[in-house]
This record gives sequence, C-alpha cells and structure tokens, in this order.
Amino acid sequence: SRAMYHFKVVLLGNSGVGKSCLVNRFVKDTFSPDIESTIGAAFLTQTIALETETVKFEIWDTAGQERYRSLAPMYYRGAQAAVVVFSLVDAESFAGAKAWVNELQKHGGSDIVIALAGNKSDLSHVRKVDRDTAIEYARATGCFYLETSAKTAVGVNELFQQVARRVPKT
Ligand code: GTP
Ligand code: MG
Repeated sequence: SRAMYHFKVVLLGNSGVGKSCLVNRFVKDTFSPDIESTIGAAFLTQTIALETETVKFEIWDTAGQERYRSLAPMYYRGAQAAVVVFSLVDAESFAGAKAWVNELQKHGGSDIVIALAGNKSDLSHVRKVDRDTAIEYARATGCFYLETSAKTAVGVNELFQQVARRVPKT
C-alpha cells in the first residue's frame, strides 16, 4: 500500500496578496474576486498523490492584516512547510514576504521547507517585482520560488506538488 504523510503547511504574507484565493484554488478549484479578508486563520485540507506516496496537507491560511501578526507563531509552529506569498504587482508585499522568511528561519522548525510564491502572475504586464530579483532572493535564503495565479490556476498545483516533494519523508 502507498505511504501516507500528513504535512502541516502555513500560508503567510501581507493582506491582499491572495493567500486565501490560492488555497481556494488548490482545495476547491475555484476563484472568487470578492472574497473577504481572513479573520484569524482558516483551516482546510487537500490530499494529493505523488508517484509512490500520498500527502494530506493540513493547511492554515493565516490573516495578513497587521493586527493578527502576533498569532502567526501558533500557526507556523510544528509546520513542515510554509508558503510565503507576495503579490507580483505590490512591491511592499515583497518586503513583507522577506520579513516572513526571516522570521521563519529564526523561529520556525529547523528543517521547514519555505516556498516563496509570487502571486497574481496574470497581472504580470503591470508587475512591480522582477522575476530575477525574487529568484535571487530565494536562492540566497534557501527557499524555492514559483510564480502563481489563483485567478487562472497557473502554478498553483505545481506549488503544492513541489512542497510535497521537498518535505523530508520521515
Ligand atoms: P488576507 O486574508 O487579508 O490576509 O488577504 P489574502 O492574502 O488572503 O488575499 P485574498 O486571497 O483575500 O485576495 C485578495 C484579492 O486579491 C482577491 O479578492 C482577488 O480579487 C485578488 N487576487 C487574489 N489572487 C489573485 C490572482 O492570482 N490574480 C488576480 N488578478 N487577483 C487575485
Ligand atoms: Mg485571506
């Protein structure tokens, strides 16, 4: 029988970058442009098959608004992976993502897998963050970088597939 893994994954990033939309795309394959800003955090699960194992993601979609920031450690504690999201059309959100990567590398688990997701790639004609800048930052910090669009679904399944592949199977 196939090996079954449970991975806790947390989404972090500024309010409005599209964390909830990414999770809804991955879990429900839907996109709604007028979704409400998350309060506290939302919990969802999704199961995917790799070649020889099955991975069940237990996903904490955190709230990006500043007033919830102090709650974040409750959600990333014990997480095997974090998806740090910024918006490709919001330079300030890239600075926010860097702060989250820093915090995770200081206070997260020692072998936590960090995915950096540049979301809203469907708007890349008005992008504010260079692909090369993000790739270089990810390389320097040991993260992996992917561009996604919750709206069109581009990159979303690949993001979670990559996370599942990179988490150590212990
Ligand atoms: P908080 O819950 O406040 O932390 O925000 P969030 O990061 O969960 O953002 P949310 O998923 O609520 O998305 C904010 C808005 O961005 C949505 O209402 C969408 O209109 C828009 N959005 C999200 N993802 C995309 C995307 O891939 N492309 C485009 N064009 N818009 C997106
Ligand atoms: Mg949200």
